[in-house]
Amino acid sequence: MSKKVYIESYGCQMNHSDSEIVASILTKDGYTTAATAEEADLVLLNTCSIREKAEYTVMQRINEMNALKAKKRGMKVGVLGCMAERMREDLLVKKKVVDLVVGPDAYRSLPLLLDEVESGQKAVNVLLSREETYAEIEPVRLDSNGVTAFVTIMRGCDNMCAFCVVPFTRGRERSRDPHSIVEECKQLVAKGYREVTLLGQNVDSYKWTEKELLANGQQPVANDLGSVDFADLLSMVAEVSPALRVRYSTSHPKDMTDRVLVVMARYANICKYVHLPVQSGSSEVLKRMNRGYTREWYLERIASIRKHMPGAAISTDIITGFCGETEEDHQQTLSLMEEVRFDMAFMFKYSERPKTLAARKYPDDVPEEVKSRRLQEVIAKLNSTAGDLRRNAVGEERVVLVEGESKRSAEFMYGRDDQYTTVIVPRGSGATEIKAGDFVRVRILSGTAASLKGEVIAVIPYPAAMEPLSIA
Ligand code: SAH
Ligand code: SF4
Ligand code: F3S
Repeated sequence: MSKKVYIESYGCQMNHSDSEIVASILTKDGYTTAATAEEADLVLLNTCSIREKAEYTVMQRINEMNALKAKKRGMKVGVLGCMAERMREDLLVKKKVVDLVVGPDAYRSLPLLLDEVESGQKAVNVLLSREETYAEIEPVRLDSNGVTAFVTIMRGCDNMCAFCVVPFTRGRERSRDPHSIVEECKQLVAKGYREVTLLGQNVDSYKWTEKELLANGQQPVANDLGSVDFADLLSMVAEVSPALRVRYSTSHPKDMTDRVLVVMARYANICKYVHLPVQSGSSEVLKRMNRGYTREWYLERIASIRKHMPGAAISTDIITGFCGETEEDHQQTLSLMEEVRFDMAFMFKYSERPKTLAARKYPDDVPEEVKSRRLQEVIAKLNSTAGDLRRNAVGEERVVLVEGESKRSAEFMYGRDDQYTTVIVPRGSGATEIKAGDFVRVRILSGTAASLKGEVIAVIPYPAAMEPLSIA
């Protein structure tokens, strides 16, 4: 009987994507994946450190797993991901609450470490790497709808935003071999997947040089500069198949080039959606955050997105109550939101993280209740603008990639349009029944704050699926 591993992921999409690498490594080592912790011999929590609350949630879950372990002899618990480095002392030495701690660059050592655990020891590897990209590992898709998949294109981050723990938990930035990325996308298409999201903390600084290509015995695929940048990579992936939709996350305002926007506008199968975290509308705060751009620069980038792709959806991340943020700074965030009219946003109260520049240099001086009040105001501002895109959609036709059955009713299916808005459509029956993985042309009948409803006009036949999509 093979052993069963259950992996639970916290934090960003990259962590979820990493769990699929881990599942792949462990499958080769003889494990099968379990759907619940109760069924598993090995429980792995892939953790997040981004805010204090994220770590707190994981600590509670570790306690629950330990309660389960007390009942199930032989079950092992391990911690992976971004809390590994920071918490290994605590988890292994002081509290002895887990059997295994493995950082984001050390997953290849899991089989060896698990042998150590089997022999009754505690095992740890939190070394960060300058090279590891897990390039050739074919992920085992977890929680998959069989239609959409994440593909990690780079790891780590070199940006050192003053508030952010990621450079400490995930190490230096490195880009993955473009051939391995394209190959993974081709295999996904062959398996019936219809959408990939390319992942990196700052995709705009993706860079693969000819030197690395030649060292691997490959022909350069690159532009005249002898290197592959994000715009090149994006077109390489878009060329994989017209029936593969391409998304990506995350862009960084300081690095987002017009070339990327040109490529996005050129390919009908690249979604017209940009997630561009602003963090604050005040240039003063942005400077202290070490973000490398001003309010004006950010607004110019937004103007450029709108120029290249008039109908594009734009979302952002915002932090309220960063060190030294005044009421005036906060008002500037609100006015920037008013000006940009984001379609969606992730909004957070500033949470001080150990080791970061802000923790070392600036007092966390905005009182908790002020952070909360400002957060509420930012949320209210978003809500007052965010319906725009959806209100305007009524009466329009959209191409929707169907992802699965609606959670509310089996008579409906849900999917997403080009701008990442959820669209609900009737499932139909008999010859007209639609299924997950179909591209359908939909007439939008109504919209709420969060989603659209529509009627299916036609199923778009493969492989010409994306042709009618272009809005550029
Ligand atoms: N690489 C992405 C962000 C990754 S973290 C980027 O540069 O945009 C996701 C979001 O979490 C950030 O955009 C930020 O808004 C938020 N965040 C990061 N550190 C935080 C902290 N210490 N407190 C509150 N929010 C934080
Ligand atoms: Fe963190 Fe900044 Fe890197 Fe994003 S770009 S992961 S916010 S350091
Ligand atoms: Fe969290 Fe690590 Fe992602 S800290 S947000 S899981 S990179």
